[in-house]
Amino acid sequence: KRIVIFASGRGSNADAIHEAVISGCINGEIVALVCDIPGASVMDKAKSWGVPVILAARREFPSKDAFEQYIIDQIEPFHADLICLAGFMRLLSSDFISHYTYRIINIHPALLPSFRGLHAQGQALAAGVKIAGCTVHFVVPDMDAGPIILQSAVPVLDDDTEETLSARILTKEHPAFVKAVSLFCDDKLRMDAGIVKRNDN
Ligand code: GRF
Repeated sequence: KRIVIFASGRGSNADAIHEAVISGCINGEIVALVCDIPGASVMDKAKSWGVPVILAARREFPSKDAFEQYIIDQIEPFHADLICLAGFMRLLSSDFISHYTYRIINIHPALLPSFRGLHAQGQALAAGVKIAGCTVHFVVPDMDAGPIILQSAVPVLDDDTEETLSARILTKEHPAFVKAVSLFCDDKLRMDAGIVKRNDN
């Protein structure tokens, strides 16, 4: 499968996907990276892998529509089968998503449907939950509300800060994201009445 990664920052999840592609754990290739933040380190990573980088800085476009249309036009030649949102900190419109129905996957650092949106790990700490984690899900227009592909849990410790909890969750994000992408690329995910089921038995 042909994978386009969208990312905004450091790129550790993008890195995990790249490693899994290289080692053959993901049956696919990363054909392009889209980044919305000038200077984000994920772009240097993609360049070092030899992956084409598309920079689309939102402020350089007069509207969200124009920004998204630019991305659609730029990625069209890459014929993406799958878009991975790997720390892409921007909401995509329903119009954009409709171009790639059930072909956009996001990683979120909380056990959805709890703690949608920004600072999910801080929200979890503030709520006093004892188990936290991450969720990989298909993207729908409602933020962090799409069908769940898989989740991975970690304990919350009494002395956790947002930083320590985020770091513990991140160690689970990488294998969870890789597993979800690998299942997608092997055609082992299907939708069944709005729920993601696996075809692997
Ligand atoms: C991850 O925690 C991801 O879940 C969240 O943003 C962070 C991105 O980290 N949406 P990285 O850029 O993949 O290292």
